[in-house]
Amino acid sequence: MSEFVGKTAVVTGAGSGIGQALARQLAAAGARLALSDVDEVGLAATVQQVRELGGEVRAEILDVRDRAAVLGYADRVREQFGAVHLVINNAGVSFTGEIAETDFADLERVMDVNFWGVVHGTKAFLPHLIASGDGRLVNISSIFGLVAFPGQSAYSAAKFAVRGFTEALRMEVRAAGHPVRVTCVCPGGVKTAIVRNSRAAAGIDVDVLAAAFDRDPGVSPVAAARTILAGVRAGRARVLVGRDAWLLDLAQRLLGPAYQRVVGPEGGRLLDQVRRRPLDRQRESI
Ligand SMILES: NC(=O)c1ccc[n+]([C@@H]2O[C@H](COP(=O)([O-])OP(=O)(O)OC[C@H]3O[C@@H](n4cnc5c(N)ncnc54)[C@H](O)[C@@H]3O)[C@@H](O)[C@H]2O)c1
Repeated sequence: MSEFVGKTAVVTGAGSGIGQALARQLAAAGARLALSDVDEVGLAATVQQVRELGGEVRAEILDVRDRAAVLGYADRVREQFGAVHLVINNAGVSFTGEIAETDFADLERVMDVNFWGVVHGTKAFLPHLIASGDGRLVNISSIFGLVAFPGQSAYSAAKFAVRGFTEALRMEVRAAGHPVRVTCVCPGGVKTAIVRNSRAAAGIDVDVLAAAFDRDPGVSPVAAARTILAGVRAGRARVLVGRDAWLLDLAQRLLGPAYQRVVGPEGGRLLDQVRRRPLDRQRESI
């Protein structure tokens, strides 16, 4: 698939950030879009932007954690458009907190959205992608799916799982001779609202964390979407987004598990910066 003209493209989590930029660029490239999100307002904004670009779009509120809903959604999209050529499992949440201070419920929520959401989207759409005769499946992992980081154990667990799932699937699909190319995307920092929208363990100040994330040099969602779609066009197995992703990937290739000696102290410093001070905690409990 070198061109997206007339192809049906599905993007989850299309109401913000990378998903919104992907939707806009796919519309500009002539694709017909099936967009979804849990955020009604964000999704409506993306739909309006896509329509202004002249794109054909179907929008639906969809929680990727809901298996039955995703399965039904895939059938409705296939019915409306006749075929599904590209699926981007993009919806995701972030979470920051050390394991000792993280509730089971938060760990499960991150796995439910970031891992199970991808599994649901993949299983639901794979038969339709195969039937299209020219399918592309794109699962969004993270650089934290290649390298772990202190305070990101839940997120890293989900993103490592997405990468393992996606890479195994790529080999299976190839061995079976199915007409589907599978791509795993590992972005570094992308300047979206993901951290501001995120939850964190009780000891973490999300505002300070979001401010630190905003200060970090990251790529724009537009640049990230451009890199992702170039990788999809080329049918790449893995797409790294941003200089930080390339550097961290290189570090773990060269150092093996010893990359932790480099990344660990940096992560520890960041956690110290974003930890609520005891006085703040006291004030909140009054
Ligand atoms: N921004 C980064 O630095 C970065 C880095 C690496 C990977 N990623 C990944 O990129 C993807 C997009 O993130 P983003 O940065 O654009 O974030 P974002 O917060 O801007 O967008 C994520 C979208 O997913 C939606 N969403 C959340 N939970 C959902 C659910 N249960 N069902 C359906 N939709 C849901 C949100 O409403 C939001 O619109 C995520 O998978 C994220 O983990 C982001």
